[in-house]
Amino acid sequence: MTDEIPGGLKDSLLALERDASGLVDEAADKAELESARVALFGRRGSITALGKQLAGLSADQKRAAGKRINSLRSSLTEQLKNRSDSLDAQAQARELEGPPLDYSLPAYAPEPGHPHPLASSMEEVRSILESMGFATAEGPQVEDEYHNFEALNIPADHPARDMQDTFFTRDGHLLRTHTSPVQIRIMEKSSPPVAVIAPGAVYRQDDDITHSPMFHQVEGLLVDKGVHFGHLKGVLTEFLRALFDEDLGVRFRPSYFPFTEPSAEVDISCVICSGSGAVENSRCRVCSGTAWVEILGAGMVHPAVFEAVGYDPGVYSGFAFGVGIERVAMLRFGIADIRHFYSQDLRFLQQF
Ligand code: DAH
Repeated sequence: MTDEIPGGLKDSLLALERDASGLVDEAADKAELESARVALFGRRGSITALGKQLAGLSADQKRAAGKRINSLRSSLTEQLKNRSDSLDAQAQARELEGPPLDYSLPAYAPEPGHPHPLASSMEEVRSILESMGFATAEGPQVEDEYHNFEALNIPADHPARDMQDTFFTRDGHLLRTHTSPVQIRIMEKSSPPVAVIAPGAVYRQDDDITHSPMFHQVEGLLVDKGVHFGHLKGVLTEFLRALFDEDLGVRFRPSYFPFTEPSAEVDISCVICSGSGAVENSRCRVCSGTAWVEILGAGMVHPAVFEAVGYDPGVYSGFAFGVGIERVAMLRFGIADIRHFYSQDLRFLQQF
């Protein structure tokens, strides 16, 4: 009699052996099947409860009851799996009988993108200058020293090379430090008159909130007979007013570039504080309270540059300029940190 399963446990076993499989087979969908599984095998499930009742039994009783509980457990486990498979098969059959696509489902509207603020600024600069008659040209970003420096009247020992901290390649080339070498490439293969702009990426070893090791410039070059500084002032003033504001203040400060003589740096009245030097009674941080910001470099093409490309400086004259696109975009949109442009952060990009 020692292996006889005690009455209470035996009754529960019999009841489960009788009813549990019905619970599984009657589950009409996956959710009901899961409820059945929990009711049987869950932490408070009936099979689990049976196991707990083994505690006080003799070794023989445990063996006898354990065996029946185990066989009930494995047959129910298999039944659960079968029911699950057959519910899946039914669902698939229903899907195959129905229409192949649910055309009633509304389509996702694509979110419209828009140009990056640097691309739109580049495009704006370009379209204004093209409307003034300049054609667009491109040059290589991997340059040689001759085009980037020598031909622009910056010989090897010239201190101006220090201002453009250069990335060199192992084979003696370099990443162009400005778009000015495109001036040389254009003049090498065409004769005057020339009116060309050259947009593109340039590289310098510079990295802070207003400098990036890769940034963008647009170069401009106009050469013909009789071109003088008045043309330079007229074209650049018109260009800057079209780009920023028709009432913009524009001033030309004497400066130095090896490839132009005379040279100028061009300032515009600060577009952040409208040339007042102050924003809400405190000093404007963009122009440091001076009311002016530098926007580009320019000058009359140096005779040595003409000689390098075989133009006669006694016959031709011209002007050139270079404008930084990041600077333009920072001023157009009031952006304080240049690194935002390259962060790919949608919270930044979606503001434009
Ligand atoms: N290449 C100069 C720079 O990167 C900018 C520049 C100044 C370009 C004067 C010019 C120019 O064409 O005439 O800083």
